[in-house]
Amino acid sequence: MVVLGGTGDLAHRKLAPAVYNLHHLGSLPQDFAFVGVGRKQKSDDQFRNELAESVNKYSSSSWDDQKWADLSPRIYYHQGDIRYADSYPDLKERIEECNRANGGSNNVLYYLALTPNLFTPAVENLNKHGMVQMESGWQRIMIEKPFGFDLQSARELNDVISSAFSEDSIFRIDHYLGKEMLQNILVLRLANSVFEPLWNERFISHVQIIASENEGIGDRGRYYDRFGAMRDMVQSHLLQMLALTAMEPPQEAGPEAVRAERLKLLNAVQLWPEEEERSNLVLGQYKGYKKEKDVDAHTGTETFAALKLAVNNQRWQGVPFYLRTGKNLDEKIAKIVIQFKKPPFFYYGNPLKDLELDYDSLLNILTLKVQPQEGVVFQFNIKKPASTSEIVPAKMDFCQPCAFLINTPEAYERLIADAIAGDTDRFSSWNEVERAWTLIDYIYEQSKKSAHKPHLYEPGSRGPAEADKITEEDGYRWW
Ligand SMILES: NC(=O)c1ccc[n+]([C@@H]2O[C@H](COP(=O)([O-])OP(=O)(O)OC[C@H]3O[C@@H](n4cnc5c(N)ncnc54)[C@H](OP(=O)(O)O)[C@@H]3O)[C@@H](O)[C@H]2O)c1
Repeated sequence: MVVLGGTGDLAHRKLAPAVYNLHHLGSLPQDFAFVGVGRKQKSDDQFRNELAESVNKYSSSSWDDQKWADLSPRIYYHQGDIRYADSYPDLKERIEECNRANGGSNNVLYYLALTPNLFTPAVENLNKHGMVQMESGWQRIMIEKPFGFDLQSARELNDVISSAFSEDSIFRIDHYLGKEMLQNILVLRLANSVFEPLWNERFISHVQIIASENEGIGDRGRYYDRFGAMRDMVQSHLLQMLALTAMEPPQEAGPEAVRAERLKLLNAVQLWPEEEERSNLVLGQYKGYKKEKDVDAHTGTETFAALKLAVNNQRWQGVPFYLRTGKNLDEKIAKIVIQFKKPPFFYYGNPLKDLELDYDSLLNILTLKVQPQEGVVFQFNIKKPASTSEIVPAKMDFCQPCAFLINTPEAYERLIADAIAGDTDRFSSWNEVERAWTLIDYIYEQSKKSAHKPHLYEPGSRGPAEADKITEEDGYRWW
């Protein structure tokens, strides 16, 4: 595994701990080696010590001296500047050396943990220097989001990558696809006869997909101010959560069948048609954002987005999908909320005629908690104990880590293991990325036409009050 950008934040906080956990579980191949690449001068030992500190700090597995002693001799550092062609012959030689020392295959997983402007020179140079499509072994590439800034730039990037790697060797990361509860959606639906028959417009009133963060942008101003919430979160994580929730069950086994169904679903997604005096898109910006480090003092970038989408197929006719995401909000949470339609009134009108009934509060809600807690909550209605006249909501609350008493694998752990195994279904295909950008570009254009300006909101609040109208006008509220 060759990590271009091996000294960066991602490598320290996510990749090295994930590799250590995989080693801990005995899930790495015998001939595994890890090569970090960066511009700074440092020895292998220095690099190993720095990664050890990060593993200690961020890994979900407990620290084990022996395990680290086994892994660390297979960790190397290579100094080189990725922008320049003359850095690559040395890098190639170093990779070959590491391969010879660790079992000899030519299997190489390149991981681009770099700022996006370095993706193109890195891939062009790897290709030019004969470091991909070699005569033996496989060479694959894992590429971090953002995959492009818009449709045009994503196409340009994809042209470069696919001229060097075949589609089944390209692993475009949307790390939400590696999250345990998202992998669980299909199982929850398809393995439970109490859910699958209801998973359609006849029984579901609407779906909410929410990913909120309680922190601001930290020192990611340079990146974030260019992208904003729509490009950073909606284009990737939120649309993939939507696709997994609403897709048709795949009819064949294998990763391509899953990706094909996610794509079909994304192709059916559109912004809910605008109606007079109603907006289906609300953007926000937290107060003080303009003063953040590396942010333009006059920026119009949104740090919050709420929108109403439609899925234009038979299963989901008329069912709104509300998406909501933002920074500096009141809580850190990612979840999918499925609200069911109410039971027909006459059904309980007779047998329960003495009960005091607030019809509007009779809700059945299924919540999939994605992070930070993982679980499933089902809300239903019961008669209040000891009362003859009151109906109250009750909850069945399944907590995944409590039930299984194991650390759920980190998304990066799963994704690295999948890429080593050549398993693509938890990665975005080019067609999915292309479709998601087409949608986001369209929504941005619409927002410019109707002069959507970000509404200011207080840090630590629920976001701009205007976002509430999106659901309220349909008779719902954000969960
Ligand atoms: N950090 C996260 O949690 C996170 C989460 C999701 C996605 N991502 C994505 O992951 C990528 C990396 O993010 P990051 O936060 O790790 O960035 P970072 O901390 O700035 O790290 C960048 C890395 O690239 C290396 N680098 C920069 N220019 C180079 C050059 N010309 N030649 C060789 N190496 C060079 C740096 O090492 P030297 O300074 O030694 O050259 C460093 O190792 C970005 O695309 C980001 O959007 C990050």
